[in-house]
Amino acid sequence: MQKNRICELLGIKYPIIQGAMAWISNGNLAGHVSKAGGLGIIAGGGMPPEVLRQEIKKAKSITDNPFGVNLMLMMESVAEQIDVCIEEGVKVVTTGAGNPGIYMEKLKAAGIKVIPVVASVALAKRMERIGADAVVAEGLEAGGHIGEITTMSLATQVAREVSIPVIVAGGIASGEQFLAALALGGEAIQVGTIFIVAHECDVHENYKNLVLKAKDRSTVTTGNYTGHPVRVLNNKFAKAILELEVKGAPKEEIEDLGKGKLRLAVVDGDIENGSVMSGQVAGLVKEALSCQEIVDKLMKELKEEKVRLDETFSKIAF
Ligand SMILES: Cc1cc2nc3c(=O)[nH]c(=O)nc-3n(C[C@H](O)[C@H](O)[C@H](O)COP(=O)(O)O)c2cc1C
Repeated sequence: MQKNRICELLGIKYPIIQGAMAWISNGNLAGHVSKAGGLGIIAGGGMPPEVLRQEIKKAKSITDNPFGVNLMLMMESVAEQIDVCIEEGVKVVTTGAGNPGIYMEKLKAAGIKVIPVVASVALAKRMERIGADAVVAEGLEAGGHIGEITTMSLATQVAREVSIPVIVAGGIASGEQFLAALALGGEAIQVGTIFIVAHECDVHENYKNLVLKAKDRSTVTTGNYTGHPVRVLNNKFAKAILELEVKGAPKEEIEDLGKGKLRLAVVDGDIENGSVMSGQVAGLVKEALSCQEIVDKLMKELKEEKVRLDETFSKIAF
């Protein structure tokens, strides 16, 4: 049997990637996702290099399977973070918030697979040209910092324009959506929101409970006005930001209000005044499960949905 290109490339069993989540996806979560047969990713964004090293060691203590590190390229310590990844033998790096071009040669020379997260066709093509091994095409349904195009529209346009494998992200938390991502031209999925409630996820219980309670319309996008849109669960903090945006307050005032607010929600559990980043699929996330159960459920549902789809097809006259 020919192997799925992403599974082959990353040395993983299932084409499921746990997307980086700043302050949330540490070595514990990433290690357990990788142990379960997917690819866990440690969110390096904002992490001091030595803390990153500890998180990498933590993941290694959980599994021998590969896992990744996400680098937010506008952060000051990226060069040192890359050194840590190389020294610790990290196999995969995903990148966001910038162009990994200047680091590409070094990462490749160390045998690290480089997978940029993109929100447009132009960026995907540029990443392919500079040697990316795959891209994550992330639609605006996703939690956290987002682009302007839906997953449905973006994934196929990217997949038609590049020949490296495409990983689809944004709005996936079920077998139906997993299957849709493959139908759109993807070869794997990247999911974030569904793992927030995992038993092995160290986010504050208040944060988990808010995700579990969420419905289809529970998220809003702040930051459209400042040019840095972020999808969060609607709460007092989101309302305050949106109010300032409507008033046309200075961008610095709005950005200042957002500072430290993800940490406030994740670590302190202040889900009123903190930023509770989450994707639109939170409405589908109804139970807390282990990483293994989440991965197994996605794979089982994918198979079941394929059967249902075949049945649907058999009743259509082509
Ligand atoms: C709380 C949260 C924090 C996130 N932080 C990051 C990050 O630091 N770097 C990154 O590349 N993506 C980040 N993302 C995006 C995820 O990696 C992933 O692509 C996204 O969650 C997929 O969409 P979904 O939320 O619909 O599953 C974050 C998402 C969430 C929900």
